[in-house]
Amino acid sequence: MKKLILVMAMMIMASGCATRQIDIDVIPKPMELQVVQGVFELDRNMVIYVQAEDQRALNCAGRLAVTLRGACGYGVDVVFDVNAQANADIIMIVDSESELGAEGYTLDINKDEIKIVATEAAGLFYGSQSIEQMLTVVGNKAVLPCVSIKDEPRFVWRGMLLDCGRHFMDKEFVKRYIDLLAYYKMNRLHWHLTEDQGWRIEIKKYPNLTKIGAWRKYEDGTTYGGFYSQEDVKEIVEYARQRFVTVVPEIEMPGHSVAALAAYPQLSCTGGPFEVETAWGVHEDVYCAGNEKTFAFLEDVLDEVCELFPSVYIHIGGDECPKVRWEKCPRCQKRIKDEGLKDEHELQSYFIKRMEKYLEGKGRHIIGWDEILEGGLAPGATVQSWRGMEGAIAAAKSGHDAIVSPVSHAYFDYHITKADLYHVYGFEPVPAELTEDEAKHIIGAECNVWTEHIPQDRVDYMVFPRILAMCEVMWSPKAGRDYNEFYQRVSAHYKKLDSMGVKYGPEAEPVAIEAKRDENGRFAVTLKGKGGETGLDFMYTIDGSDINDHSLKYAGPFEISESCVIKAQAIKNGRTYGNQVQKPIDIHKACGKMITIKNAPSDQYPGSGPGGLVDGLLGDPHLLKESYWQGFQMDDFEAVIDLGQSQKINRIAANFLRSHNSWIFMPKRVNYAVSVDGQEFAEVAAKDFPPRDKDQSTEAVMYDVKINEIEARYIKVVAKNVGICPDWHKGKGGNAWLFIDEIIVE
Ligand code: ACM
Ligand code: ZN
Repeated sequence: MKKLILVMAMMIMASGCATRQIDIDVIPKPMELQVVQGVFELDRNMVIYVQAEDQRALNCAGRLAVTLRGACGYGVDVVFDVNAQANADIIMIVDSESELGAEGYTLDINKDEIKIVATEAAGLFYGSQSIEQMLTVVGNKAVLPCVSIKDEPRFVWRGMLLDCGRHFMDKEFVKRYIDLLAYYKMNRLHWHLTEDQGWRIEIKKYPNLTKIGAWRKYEDGTTYGGFYSQEDVKEIVEYARQRFVTVVPEIEMPGHSVAALAAYPQLSCTGGPFEVETAWGVHEDVYCAGNEKTFAFLEDVLDEVCELFPSVYIHIGGDECPKVRWEKCPRCQKRIKDEGLKDEHELQSYFIKRMEKYLEGKGRHIIGWDEILEGGLAPGATVQSWRGMEGAIAAAKSGHDAIVSPVSHAYFDYHITKADLYHVYGFEPVPAELTEDEAKHIIGAECNVWTEHIPQDRVDYMVFPRILAMCEVMWSPKAGRDYNEFYQRVSAHYKKLDSMGVKYGPEAEPVAIEAKRDENGRFAVTLKGKGGETGLDFMYTIDGSDINDHSLKYAGPFEISESCVIKAQAIKNGRTYGNQVQKPIDIHKACGKMITIKNAPSDQYPGSGPGGLVDGLLGDPHLLKESYWQGFQMDDFEAVIDLGQSQKINRIAANFLRSHNSWIFMPKRVNYAVSVDGQEFAEVAAKDFPPRDKDQSTEAVMYDVKINEIEARYIKVVAKNVGICPDWHKGKGGNAWLFIDEIIVE
């Protein structure tokens, strides 16, 4: 095993200055890094010698020169005449005999000289990226720490998917992403170019694809769209190539193809007509698999795509293809019969295999989403596993390569609460189920940014900083992963991201509003970075109004003595950071009173103990684990609250959760009763909540009952669990949950 040495901090003596500390915060973390005493000072005109057999190395040295010049103010020249090497300050050379892989490099910086040695030009590029990341200005002097780095990636495929189908992104924006990927040593841009909602690449033979298919029309008369001309594509592909990023085009088939069918309806099963889709989701009209014209069309399209993209891999989608049109289509059914196929799944497999054969004939390989496993995998296909890791496991076990981008960790269009920085950093691309040999088929990973709800100016927010975790997962050795140490480096990267104009989003749901009740019934409220994130400021309101520039600035815990809604917003580096969050505080008669519950909640969802049901704080319906909810599996809920003395009450309310996707149902029946002696209870309200299949959202539902003033000391709440999931539910017959947080008495 390779030895990993990473010393985070070093002391340097800047000439004449006080002792300073330079943190080395390269992301992704190099395989081996040793800090050497001293710094390289950029305090003179300098020369970079680059071995320039590959033009890209020369260009890379040129860009490094520009960066160094900008940082130090001295001249930095690039030379490639071998005779000039001896006098160069920075040397970039190729050693094809190196023990490192194709993308590997060593970088040695001492006081007098910087040297990158790489197996190929790519390694020179990655070495230069490490230099750019380590460049520091101390006082007014640009310096580089003296280090010895030996580095190469863990995976060859380190990608990001950009969905330019749902939202079009302009050419300069795509190039900017290529720069950002390259800065973090990623090497694949998976460019999702065709969708139901838009066809984005000019195909000369089929002009309607962009004349019609690139534009969607809304009911209000507005049109949205755009496309890349072939000249744009060439420019982007070359821009990426210079930065050692391969652009992998995705041309979706047989599904997600309504935009193409709007342009050429004769390629569908029904003949159309179609409009470019404006609704998100999975659409039933797909390419007709029984029509030879479909294949001729797609082959023509792929001919032009292959001309434009040198990538050996072409992604042909294959995901989410409904079969309803094929089931009814005489041509598709004839194809099934003629080819001796079992069903429509095998017809999809026929489709993919046929396209694969065509592309193999052109010297290319296909990648498809894990649905291409259904009905039989095409012989040379690489599987991109997104519905979990199962697709990758099945592919690897059958000798196929796989790329992993599971929804659980790699979908950066998902809200930060579903996959925060810590969670993404914990992603392991190689499933434990695989043997060492099978594991070799996991060629890498991708993070995906689907853009249904993410226009161009929101992409940074979703991608950063999570992509820093992903790039490290893909590049750095597994053995050296340490979140706390990584987090230090991430914190240092915000300044770099600011300077690159990256409008990053939060690392995690940014604000935690914590409210603790004291014995006098007042609440002390603390605002803090969720998950311990530091370096945040907060603004807040307690009158229910939204945060604005005039809201209160948080200076420490504050006290609340009346019911209210607290809203808070984190501020990081002077900018709003993450979403505004809110917490209602309901100060009521049962707050802090004695509560006895009959059945204990499940160990999985204990909330904060019985007292949590009368603490004035309502559970957040989207935070089951982190909040105050108590969950009961199959069991009923029954509790008695003792108000301490008999008094007039006029309201009882209990807050339940409904989330059918998580098998959480409203109680079958809820019953409220009161008593003055704790023995004899009189029912004051009851209601049935029959589960309905149309209630699909996750929401808190309050059974809130106003009652005529009545004398009571004891309040009993009984909620009957539905027990088992109803017939219409996907968990039919399985154990159902009941969730409750807060019983309110006024
Ligand atoms: C996918 O998210 N449908 C690949
Ligand atoms: Zn058909």
